[in-house]
Amino acid sequence: MNNAIAVFASARRNGNTGKFIDWIAGDLGIEVIDLSEKNISPYDYDHRNINDDFLPLMQQLLEYEKIIFVTPVYWYGPSAQMKIFIDRTSDFLDLEELKDIGRRLRKKMAYIVCTSISSDADSSFINSLKDTFEYLGMKYGGYVHANCENGYIQENYRQDVNSFLSSVKESAYV
Ligand SMILES: Cc1cc2nc3c(=O)[nH]c(=O)nc-3n(C[C@H](O)[C@H](O)[C@H](O)COP(=O)(O)O)c2cc1C
Repeated sequence: MNNAIAVFASARRNGNTGKFIDWIAGDLGIEVIDLSEKNISPYDYDHRNINDDFLPLMQQLLEYEKIIFVTPVYWYGPSAQMKIFIDRTSDFLDLEELKDIGRRLRKKMAYIVCTSISSDADSSFINSLKDTFEYLGMKYGGYVHANCENGYIQENYRQDVNSFLSSVKESAYV
């Protein structure tokens, strides 16, 4: 698949969420970008951070039709690194010269890949991401979750992953 990309943010690369996305990305044949390898600083009203890695990364993501956001649930929300990344999309709303880049998000599909130690992804976690995607004009395509309460047990997630994979492969922005 060459029209999708995953953006990953966890406190560890090879933990539950890392293993989960490596499986999914391997099946889809897509790249996983690890936000911990990027220098992306928190949102700044004065945009003194405009030359960090956020804009080049966004330009890269905008080459794809489907963007998969990958994060564990940490305290009913996304990881801190993912939150920082999402906050930075406000740069597109603030800065006239970036508005056209921001508008390109309007034609994208957004998905969530997540893990937690609960039977399902917390609804406030899912809804905050879904609402953000929709505010940005992206089309939300759904999520897949791995319950890692007893560790990462891949066979437990196979059915959910299969339906997620089919939906990513078949969906299109319409
Ligand atoms: C800081 C922190 C906060 C967490 N908060 C939640 C939570 O609110 N709900 C939940 O079900 N699991 C929570 N967990 C458990 C993680 O979501 C779970 O272990 C996840 O699979 C970890 O993924 P990782 O290995 O990529 O970090 C939390 C874990 C950490 C470290």
